[in-house]
Amino acid sequence: MNRLLAAFLALALALTACAEAEPTAPDPQPETTAVAPTTSTLATTTTTTTTTAPPPLPSDVTTRLGLGDSRYPELGNAGYDVAHYTIDLTFDPEVNTLSALVSIDATATEPIDAFSVDFVGFEVTAIKVNGEAVSFDRLGEELIIQLPAPLATGDDFVATIAYNGTPQPVLSQALPFEVGWRTDTAGTSYVVAEPDGGRSWLPLNDHPSDKATYTFLITVPEPLIAAANGTLQERITDLGWSTWVWESNDPMASYLATVVIGDLMVVPDETSTTESGVVVRNVLPRDLATDIPVPLERQGEMISFFAELFGPYPFEAYGIAVVGDFEAALENQTLSIFGRTFVEFPAFFETVLVHELAHQWFGNSVTPADWGDIWLNEGFATYAEWLWIEETRGAAAYQATVNGERNRLALVDLPPPGNPPAEDLFNASVYVWGGLTLHALRVEIGDDAFFETLRTYYATYENSIANTADFIAIAEAVSGADLTDLFDQWLYSAVVPELPSASG
Ligand code: TRP
Ligand code: ZN
Repeated sequence: MNRLLAAFLALALALTACAEAEPTAPDPQPETTAVAPTTSTLATTTTTTTTTAPPPLPSDVTTRLGLGDSRYPELGNAGYDVAHYTIDLTFDPEVNTLSALVSIDATATEPIDAFSVDFVGFEVTAIKVNGEAVSFDRLGEELIIQLPAPLATGDDFVATIAYNGTPQPVLSQALPFEVGWRTDTAGTSYVVAEPDGGRSWLPLNDHPSDKATYTFLITVPEPLIAAANGTLQERITDLGWSTWVWESNDPMASYLATVVIGDLMVVPDETSTTESGVVVRNVLPRDLATDIPVPLERQGEMISFFAELFGPYPFEAYGIAVVGDFEAALENQTLSIFGRTFVEFPAFFETVLVHELAHQWFGNSVTPADWGDIWLNEGFATYAEWLWIEETRGAAAYQATVNGERNRLALVDLPPPGNPPAEDLFNASVYVWGGLTLHALRVEIGDDAFFETLRTYYATYENSIANTADFIAIAEAVSGADLTDLFDQWLYSAVVPELPSASG
C-alpha cells in the first residue's frame, strides 16, 4: 500500500490544481513595469493607466533584488539579515479582510540606504524605519523601502510596515497550485507557503537562507481560534475579539511561517506528550477533536523514534492542523498542515504524519541553503517513512518498499534529484530517487556509519542551513570513504542506478 505513497504528493498536488481553476496570481516573473507611481497606489490596481513615470529607484537597491537562488534568483533580498518578525494581524472572515502591522528587526550586511522585501497585494499605508516615516515604492513583487539615513555594515534597524486588504494566494513558480494564504470551503484560512508563497501575506526576506524568530499576535472574532508556529503565550479577549499570541523562539525559514484561523480547537495530545517529552498539540475541527483519528496519538512514538535516530526533537512543540479541501500536507515549523483527505485513510495518514514530522529535523531545523538542494528535505523525509516501516513492520517490509519504489521509478522519466527543475521542484524524483540515494549510501557505508552520518549532519547544521556538498562532506568524514562516485551517480545521472545488492 505504501508503494503508492511516493507518487501521492505529486498526484495530490496535480489534483488540487485541477480543483481550483481560477488563478488570479500575477506573473511569477517580476517585470520592471508595474511600478506604483505613488505610495498610495494599490499594488492590486495593475490596470492603472497612468502615464506618470515611476520614481527612480535608489541605484544600489536594484542590484540587491534577489539572493541569486539557483532556481528562484529573485527570491529574498541582499543587504540585510532579519533577526525577528513581529506580526500583529487582525483578520475579519466576515469581510475577508486583514489589517496588519509587521515589524522587522534586521541588521545591515553591507552599507545600504534602502532595502527591499518580497511582498504582493494589499494596500501599504505606512512604513517607518527606526520610528521615522519613510518613503517606499512597489516594483512588481518587491516593496522597496528608503532608509531615513544610510546604514553601515552591522547596523541594526527596525522597519514597521502597515497594510490592509483581502489576502489572496499566489501562483507558485514551483508547483501547479496556489500557495500562501488560502481559505477552505468551511471558511478556515491557513498559510501553506513553500517555497514562494510568503509574500502573499507578509512583507519578508523570502529565502530559506535568512532564518529568523517570530512573534504572532493574531486577532480574530470569537469563537474562532488563531494558531501559528511555536507556543501559545496568551489569549486576550476583548469585546468579542481574541488576540492569540504565539511565539516561535527557534529560528525559522520564512516558507515555514503559518497561521490557521477557523472554527477549530487546540487539542493537547497527552499521550504523545507523555511518550515523547515534547509538548504535542493539534489544531482540529470540532468533530475530530472529540473523535481523534487513531494514528494521530502515535506522533509521540514517532518523535521518540526519530529523536533516537537523528537527535533530540528540534523545537518547542509539535502538532498538526487539519484543514479542509486541501489534498496535500506541509511541514510548517512545529505545526504541519494536513488536508482533511488524509484522515480518511489511516495507513496513509500514518505515513504522511511520519513524513511531515521528519521534516522538522530535515528541512526545518537543517534547512536547504538553496532550493536546488530540495532533495535534502524530501529525500530525507521519504527515507524516514521507510525507516518507520522498518521499525514497525520489519526489515523485509523495508526492503520490499525500497525495491518497489525503485521499480516504480523505472516506469517514469524524471530528472535526477540533485538537479530539480524550477517549475516542478517537488517532482517525485526528489522524494523517491532522493530517498533511494540514502538507501544506497546506507548499503555502501553500513548501518553504523550511516546513522552516525545522519546524527552528525543534524548536530552540525541544526537551526541552520546546509547544502548537498555539506552532507556529502559529513558522510565522507564519518565513513572515511570517498563517496564522490556514489553521489554523482545517485544525485546527478540521467538514469536511476540499480539498487546495491547487499542490504545494510
Ligand atoms: N513539503 C511538502 C511535503 O512534505 C510538499 C509541498 C511543497 C507542499 N509546497 C507545498 C504542500 C505547498 C502543500 C503546499 O512533501
Ligand atoms: Zn516532504
